[in-house]
Amino acid sequence: GIVRRRVSILILGLDNSGKTTIIAHFIRASSVPAAPSPTSPPPIVPTVGFSLEKFDYENLNFTVFDMSGQGRYRELWKHYYDDTDGLVWVLDAGDKERMAVVREELWSVLSHKALQQKKIPIVFFANKMDLEGSLTPQECIAALGLEEIRDRNWNIVASSAVNGEGLNRGLEWLAGQLK
Ligand code: GTP
Ligand code: MG
Repeated sequence: GIVRRRVSILILGLDNSGKTTIIAHFIRASSVPAAPSPTSPPPIVPTVGFSLEKFDYENLNFTVFDMSGQGRYRELWKHYYDDTDGLVWVLDAGDKERMAVVREELWSVLSHKALQQKKIPIVFFANKMDLEGSLTPQECIAALGLEEIRDRNWNIVASSAVNGEGLNRGLEWLAGQLK
């Protein structure tokens, strides 16, 4: 078989934004189809602490730290900055009320010393685009001040983790950055 290069990424964003659902999509897409299972896959529940996941994508073998976005667990995020090659930030584009909280958390992450020393790329998913009235990527850029990120490569892609839209496009971009 082909030898895949190992890369490590961190997936961040507020609780309920769709991080675990996105990772479940990539795990499903990368595993060899097994015999049809009589039971449906386990439901996705809010992550406690974090969950370590792995999947293959093209020539890369991804190790993913799927962090909980709940307030009481966000303190954990910083312990994983040192060993990460890239960031995935998931936004609930339908949750306009919490964009100010997202903005605060994002800028606190980006200004952390470990990430200041490490100009790793970041891809944003403007997730839940299937919900009526969800913010467009342009509106997310404005709400979060993303234009001010000038010290590292970043991109934003509209996605829906429930129907898979946009997910490959975002990961494709990140994979290209990690080559
Ligand atoms: P924490 O682990 O608590 O940080 O949350 P999370 O970011 O991992 O969110 P999770 O993947 O658990 O999804 C939260 C809820 O949003 C679930 O009910 C998902 O089914 C739903 N969800 C995720 N992505 C989408 C999406 O693109 N569209 C819609 N409509 N719902 C979504
Ligand atoms: Mg989760």
